[in-house]
Amino acid sequence: MIALDLKGAGVVVTGAGSGIGAALARRFATAGARVVVNDLDTTLAQHVADEIGGLAVPGDAAAEDSIATLIETARHHLGEIDLFCANAGIEPGGGIDTPTDVWDRTWQVNVMAHVHAARHLIGPWLERGRGHFLATVSAAGLLTHVGSAPYSVSKHGALAFAEWLAATHADRGITVQVLCPMGVRTRMYEQTHTAAKTVLGDNILEPDHVADHVMGSLGDERFLILPHPEVRALYAIRATDTERWLQAMNRVHQTLLDSDHPE
Ligand SMILES: NC(=O)c1ccc[n+]([C@@H]2O[C@H](COP(=O)([O-])OP(=O)(O)OC[C@H]3O[C@@H](n4cnc5c(N)ncnc54)[C@H](O)[C@@H]3O)[C@@H](O)[C@H]2O)c1
Repeated sequence: MIALDLKGAGVVVTGAGSGIGAALARRFATAGARVVVNDLDTTLAQHVADEIGGLAVPGDAAAEDSIATLIETARHHLGEIDLFCANAGIEPGGGIDTPTDVWDRTWQVNVMAHVHAARHLIGPWLERGRGHFLATVSAAGLLTHVGSAPYSVSKHGALAFAEWLAATHADRGITVQVLCPMGVRTRMYEQTHTAAKTVLGDNILEPDHVADHVMGSLGDERFLILPHPEVRALYAIRATDTERWLQAMNRVHQTLLDSDHPE
């Protein structure tokens, strides 16, 4: 893994108009990076870019033509992209009855956005022998998110893609890391359903805390960036005692059902 010096580095953050992405953009700019700020929401992207002296390139991170434009514009502006943060994500909630178009959109934003970005990044990165891909996944990608099937499934997909990227290109200067927090106090968290909030509990981090944690983790050789340290132990239990893990998750689900329908 090649250590990343952020001073003067060219950085792109998708979904950087609010929440974790905005906090990352601000933190990287403070460390001396030149930051390109993407968001679906043009006003939010411009606001953050103005605040940090970055360049706003609004657009849909899930659409390949829009990602191609983002990466081309960023390369033109930055020279080369040293760090790409695939951070944009959505959490629609819901189980198997979630409409198919919502499953599709969640898959596009939470997974295919990363695939499209990598398609346009990896070739030039391999040629120069250097490139850093940071995917904002979620603890839901390592564990599960009770009450939210499309989110759980798509975040597992994002994790699997990042693992594949690392396994395929680590020997050629490509660094891949995944950010997997539990609850973070953002618009997504505020809009999430009550059951999900109950599952996430009290340990809700501020986006700035998560950004600080990322700063301390870039280039530290660890694939998993875990601002909530308890996630590592839970992930180990899931891997080594899967049945006990699933029973515990089912009990959480039952508790949520009971709290939704008190006697
Ligand atoms: N908040 C949490 O508790 C939490 C926990 C774990 C992981 N995450 C992940 O963190 C990432 C950021 O979420 P957040 O909590 O900061 O939410 P947020 O809603 O505050 O920010 C997400 C931003 O992404 C933008 N966005 C959505 N779809 C987009 C698209 N297709 N193209 C470009 N921009 C798009 C939104 O406009 C928004 O500004 C997501 O991938 C989310 O799954 C969040």
